[in-house]
Amino acid sequence: MASSSTKSLFLRKWILRPSIWACIISILAYWDHEALHGSLVYDDAGSLKSNPVVTGAVPWTEVATRDFWGTPMATPQSHKSFRPITTLTFRFNWLLSEHLGTNGTDTHTIGFHVVNVGLHGIVTGLVTESAAMVFEFHDSEANTLTQLLTGILFALHPVHAEAVSNITSRGELLMSLFFLLAFLSFSSFHPDRRPNQSRWKTLLFVYTLPWFCMTVSLFCKEQGATALITITIWDFLVHHSSLKEFLSKLQRKQQSALNFTKRTTIFAFQTLLVVALRYWLNGESSPDFIFDQNPAGFSEDRFTRVFSICWVYCLYLWDAVYPSTLCPDWSGKSIDLISDIWDPRVPLVVALWVFALGCLLSVATGLPLTVTRRTQHARCVFLVAFFAFVASPFLLSSNLLIVVGLMKADRVIYLPLMGFCMIEALLVQLIYHEVADEGPLQARALTLPGNRLKLSGYILLMFQLFVFAAKVYERNVAWSHSLNLWRSAFEINSKSQHTRYNCGYELSLKKRYEEAEQVLRPIADPYVESPSTSFVYAMVLFNLGHCEDSLKLIDEAFYAVDERRRQGGVRNSEDKLVRMESNLLVAQAYCTSNTAVAGKLMYDAVQVDRTNAYAVEQASEMVRRLTATHERRGLIA
Ligand SMILES: *[C@@H]1O[C@H](CO)[C@@H](O)[C@H](O)[C@H]1NC(C)=O
Repeated sequence: MASSSTKSLFLRKWILRPSIWACIISILAYWDHEALHGSLVYDDAGSLKSNPVVTGAVPWTEVATRDFWGTPMATPQSHKSFRPITTLTFRFNWLLSEHLGTNGTDTHTIGFHVVNVGLHGIVTGLVTESAAMVFEFHDSEANTLTQLLTGILFALHPVHAEAVSNITSRGELLMSLFFLLAFLSFSSFHPDRRPNQSRWKTLLFVYTLPWFCMTVSLFCKEQGATALITITIWDFLVHHSSLKEFLSKLQRKQQSALNFTKRTTIFAFQTLLVVALRYWLNGESSPDFIFDQNPAGFSEDRFTRVFSICWVYCLYLWDAVYPSTLCPDWSGKSIDLISDIWDPRVPLVVALWVFALGCLLSVATGLPLTVTRRTQHARCVFLVAFFAFVASPFLLSSNLLIVVGLMKADRVIYLPLMGFCMIEALLVQLIYHEVADEGPLQARALTLPGNRLKLSGYILLMFQLFVFAAKVYERNVAWSHSLNLWRSAFEINSKSQHTRYNCGYELSLKKRYEEAEQVLRPIADPYVESPSTSFVYAMVLFNLGHCEDSLKLIDEAFYAVDERRRQGGVRNSEDKLVRMESNLLVAQAYCTSNTAVAGKLMYDAVQVDRTNAYAVEQASEMVRRLTATHERRGLIA
């Protein structure tokens, strides 16, 4: 008898935990053969294949001095993204794939994908556990429902595919994992809730572990720096409710308020220390972002800057609610800037400000004064979800403190979506689970047959989750191959030249020259995108048999390269320019019918840039062809 009850206790405690189920669902959602074996796409080449730390070309300890792409942090070329822990997990994956007899080539990516999906599973589990700390219903059934809902929504939110299916985005997942561990450690061992806790436990779980996890999180991705801010916001809202209440407690020298002040001071100090260390690691130079990457953030005009940045927030909000237009690239002209007051989007931005201001006022004053415990509780959950789990993890991507190198990237709301999932779970709880924490036991949803409103709630939710799961599947498969990815991106966002280029380039690799020509035509001019784009377009023209047009374009591209050389700057470094020239020479050789001249051009291409593997390969290919022709001629003669 006793053993069976311990067994069932174990069951309730572990197997029936909502976090376990949310975790399983999140892994299943991404468990697709095609996607797990998907090839390396886009940036993966830079972060994995040509990253010397990952491939083992330099000792792994070099991770401490190199950025995410393997460039030494101290050099001006460095992007200054320092994520050594993420890089080390890539190193581990690389070793594993070598061990399995494969070497990270395009067809053997399964280990990388499995780790990403596994991390998403763990993060989903931790999100579900954290939800319990936010909702804290006294009624365990209501708790289970909201926890499970938050977890499943997080597991299946389509925006997450942009982080999970992108191998290089692993930093997002690792950062979230340690971010949440910091929060769970603090909230589970909060001294106000465990008054009899030993001092060393407080020291370890409240002051040390969160700090440690926050530091690790930061070294997985920069956004981890706000973990202690999230903790503080939660601590404040859950235990003091509003600034007004807190100040009056402080006046009365109440212990809880004094303790909160002490903790916050320590956390502020800890955060500053780690951020200062991180800042110091950047070295002398700062990252070199260009206008095109973030036209809103780098806009000269203050009005345009403020309104356009806030418009991007609105777009993120829309993605959270209705994630239909997901795309890996929103650079350049993808999103129109708001440059005058009559723009129809201005009222929406203003509405967002009013909303945010309202939330801030509520934190300050404790308004709206509500009568029932239930609405009081709902206000608190809402504010915690909004400030601690949407705003705080988003802070460093918001362009408020520092201007970042991207205008919008769907992957950066990976963790902030957690707050949205909580808010939705709260709304569902309020609307469809009316009587849960006040009414009699029998009146609860599910146990009450024929309750129309509640049933409709479940049907709507099921529908939403079904649509979400389908969309996750679609995005996950789109990520499995470069051409899929950029073609779908081009359908969604044809305004971006960067996406257009990638789509055209991938088409040309697949020898679909006619389609490639159509896609690339608007950006073929070397002054529109780059001489590299002109090179790709010139090769497409050659393959379509339009050599005359191709040669004309190549000449213009050479001029453009010269002009860049005169301009100088980090982005026009000599090795980049000679690479362009070398490629252009190859294209020129292809379009030259005189074999002697063509041979000379090929030779020059290799001489200009000996590290250009493409040129070397094309040159030897040409030699092979010529030898074969001569031999054939010899045979005939
Ligand atoms: C994948 O994620 C990385 C790192 O966050 C990012 O730099 C890259 O652009 C992403 N890939 C694509 C195709 O957007």
